[in-house]
Amino acid sequence: MTKLIKNGTIVTAVDEFVGDVLIENGKIAAVGKDLSINADTIIDATGKYILPGGVDQHVHYSFDYKGERVRGFETSNAAIVGGTTTVVEFVNQEQGKGMAETIEKFDKEEASKFAMVDYSFHGVVCDPTEALFKEIPTLPDKGISTIKLFMAYKGLPFHSDDEAVFKALKASKDAGVTVMVHAENADVIDALQKESIEKGNTSPYYHAETRPVLVEKEATQRAINLAKMADSPIYIVHVSAKEVMETIRTAYNEGVPVYGESCTQYFVLDKEDLARPNFEGAKYVLSPALRTEEDREALWEAINKGWLNAVSSDHCGFNWEYQKHMGKDDFTNIPNGAPGVQDRLSILWSYGVNTGKISKQRLVDVFATSPAKINGLDHKKGHIGVGLDADLVIFNPEVEWTISNETSLHGVDYNCYENMPAKGKVEQVFLRGKLMVDKGEFIGQQGDGEFVPALPFGSCYEGIKIEETKVNI
Ligand code: URP
Ligand code: ZN
Ligand code: ZN
Repeated sequence: MTKLIKNGTIVTAVDEFVGDVLIENGKIAAVGKDLSINADTIIDATGKYILPGGVDQHVHYSFDYKGERVRGFETSNAAIVGGTTTVVEFVNQEQGKGMAETIEKFDKEEASKFAMVDYSFHGVVCDPTEALFKEIPTLPDKGISTIKLFMAYKGLPFHSDDEAVFKALKASKDAGVTVMVHAENADVIDALQKESIEKGNTSPYYHAETRPVLVEKEATQRAINLAKMADSPIYIVHVSAKEVMETIRTAYNEGVPVYGESCTQYFVLDKEDLARPNFEGAKYVLSPALRTEEDREALWEAINKGWLNAVSSDHCGFNWEYQKHMGKDDFTNIPNGAPGVQDRLSILWSYGVNTGKISKQRLVDVFATSPAKINGLDHKKGHIGVGLDADLVIFNPEVEWTISNETSLHGVDYNCYENMPAKGKVEQVFLRGKLMVDKGEFIGQQGDGEFVPALPFGSCYEGIKIEETKVNI
């Protein structure tokens, strides 16, 4: 079965032109202008954009905060209606168990049964034993090439100290496993939180007050120093603030292989959202905390200039009514994280491209192409190129609409972008050539998503033989 998408404006991380895309056996078989090829199905994309399906490298479909668990892969249709065709899920290593073993169990019992997008995994270090450090270099054999350590969250089972981060960096570097860190100073946050609660400052607003920018900046610099001592690359996730971005940029300019991701919420939401009355502020409790307008502007500039490499959602489907309320009398018990997997493209387009803050090419890069590369998925995902999976989004730039929880498929009772106007909407989404979203509505099925093995970092260059690319001069 072949499909030909005709006359769309094809946007890649480096290009933009009106053309056609041929899909054959789930792959992109040809890309070009006026392709004169017969196909079983013709899709007219005149006036629309054809974008590569998004790669959201930071989602949580199994995260547990003090006993409260997020909604799982059974809600991953939210990702695909928002234009994301691949997600990378964080799986917490079970105590006393291997990383691969834990991930394989989760895949078998949940992801493979329910996923409605393609998916890959990051292992989260929770039990940093010598056995684990021996296992890390073998993870790419199982298609797992990224691990995360949480420098934050003192006292929770997934917190890691500097020794664990350093050892993980050393164990990973020669195997092409990328170490990601959640960089916040756990001890200082813990001290500030205790002080705040003792003073009776228990409302959601104090979540931000007890997580100032400096706790993130200090841990980011420390993580970079640990990476330097281990002589390893490092990836800082969910960068929230100007000073943190600048810390990464400075180190990178000095030659440290440090990369950074930010998330949708840090581009449009504000610390003051935490002060919303009637416990509405709890909807915005996520870590690192939301910041200020100055930070937002700096982050837009950073993605436009390439100082940060990806924008993810950090999607966490916690319900406000019966989960966030766990912290009604003590903000430290509010589950950290907010939903957003459906809204990443809409926000980046409406508030980035439409305002002139970022180019369409930079959007595609941070939304799909770079996260595919960083996570070892670019052998299949993240770009409109011959031989890659036919993961494609047909995007209508003219549709004006309003973001609302009523049309959100994430399975929770709020959307933190509620009532935000948007211009530009996903109309159709193809996953490996299969039409999964039509007229903006999900038409796929649970289990349609497949595991995508992640190759070790840098392996996309292994097949390139320089001597074969002869240039006549
Ligand atoms: O608040 C957040 N971001 N929750 C999800 C877990 C994490 O820190 O990534
Ligand atoms: Zn984190
Ligand atoms: Zn996260």
